[in-house]
Amino acid sequence: MRERVAVIGLGYIGLPLSLSFAMKGTPVIGVDVNAQLVEQINAGITHHLERYKGKGIREILQEQLANGRFRATTDYREAIPGALAVVITVGIPIKNGDPDTSYLLSAVSSVGELLEPGQIVIVRSTVIPGMTGGIIREILEKKSGLAAGEDFDLAYCSERIAEGRAFEEFESMPVALAGINGRSAAAAEAIIAKVTTNAPIYRASDMAVVEISKVMENVQRDVNIAMVQEFARLTEALGLDIYEVIAVANTHKRVNLLTPGPGVGGYCLPNALYYLLPRAAEKNVPLDLLRLARQINDRVPAFLVDQVNRWVKEKGKVPQDVTVAVLGIAMKDFSSDDRISPPLETVKLLQQAGYRVKAFDPAVPASYPFKVERFEEAVRGADVILILARQEGMPLDDIAAWRPLAAPELFLVDTRNVYKKEDVAPFNVDFWKI
Ligand SMILES: NC(=O)c1ccc[n+]([C@@H]2O[C@H](COP(=O)([O-])OP(=O)(O)OC[C@H]3O[C@@H](n4cnc5c(N)ncnc54)[C@H](O)[C@@H]3O)[C@@H](O)[C@H]2O)c1
Repeated sequence: MRERVAVIGLGYIGLPLSLSFAMKGTPVIGVDVNAQLVEQINAGITHHLERYKGKGIREILQEQLANGRFRATTDYREAIPGALAVVITVGIPIKNGDPDTSYLLSAVSSVGELLEPGQIVIVRSTVIPGMTGGIIREILEKKSGLAAGEDFDLAYCSERIAEGRAFEEFESMPVALAGINGRSAAAAEAIIAKVTTNAPIYRASDMAVVEISKVMENVQRDVNIAMVQEFARLTEALGLDIYEVIAVANTHKRVNLLTPGPGVGGYCLPNALYYLLPRAAEKNVPLDLLRLARQINDRVPAFLVDQVNRWVKEKGKVPQDVTVAVLGIAMKDFSSDDRISPPLETVKLLQQAGYRVKAFDPAVPASYPFKVERFEEAVRGADVILILARQEGMPLDDIAAWRPLAAPELFLVDTRNVYKKEDVAPFNVDFWKI
């Protein structure tokens, strides 16, 4: 009897999803086109920062490799034949505002070439609404010569986990799915239930409903954060603390304001609108509010650089003589993910303005010419410090220890609510926080 699952794409979703299946007893072969990544994974190495029941993802990976329930490959022929289910997690990057579906469709094509009767394909990527029942179905049918909903099953199941909480949320985050027909939906539910053991699985009437709902869930957060950025500008002008205002507002049971920060990054939120735009354009629906929210969030790095420029001018300095320490280049706190990361945009704008920039982030594996390896190295001699993402190994709590390393005249910009005014008051710092 078939029981193995093939997971296509071994990134931030595919790897922890594969390991979740494996930990629950389902054997998995994961496929990725990145040979170096596959080699690292098979050697038990990953830079993700996921944890589950006290174990880090590396330990979990090494355990599942050792017990034989998981391995990675670049060769679809090792994964698709004989599998019960194929779960696709290859994404759609946005390039200059346009979704690039080529990676996902290439993966679909490779699956289609090897698809066998009786298998189920579950698309778990975030897609342009309508793709699973449209182009993805067409490619699978054409490549396999099989009929969706008859010879093989096809379903869409959105992915809602947050990086850093993947293992726990695969288990406990409610899931929405739909199939090309009732049989496919039931087959998908049986597969997803192997991982989602502790939350309801909702079945929608149509795959497009789940596809668009996923994108709208992300857009909702993007718009909420843009709104809170505007609230922050206003509360600052009024001399009020935005974080206290948010805390008070959120005591209302039906209010959930998110937090402002250095901008919105990562793969999910900044991309979401661009998955809706092609469908909106076809139907002449303008989506004005959603576009404006995107612009507001995109402008935050420039706004931060304006704050630095303002301070530099006030002090009679010029950017060329000012060293800026950027603390955190990940797209959010305690993450290794620097995709579409506002801190990287901020660094770019600072450099364009003529500043010397040193950035420190112990969690991000990528190397950059401006990246330094030690916290002290970043802070030493800095005239300006921008806190853009917190990480383990960033000793911010002990201000007394790091303050003497920085320049005597210091501008500290806190976008992550690390400090209160009172915390920094004794340390001779010009302090500004979002
Ligand atoms: N990261 C998140 O927190 C998150 C949350 C919810 C949903 N999603 C969605 O999940 C999907 C995957 O996101 P991710 O963050 O894991 O992306 P990722 O870029 O980390 O991983 C995708 C992987 O697919 C591989 N790949 C590309 N083309 C391939 C092909 N033809 N065959 C096999 N592998 C191929 C890449 O090498 C990469 O390792 C996206 O659609 C994303 O929008 C992500």
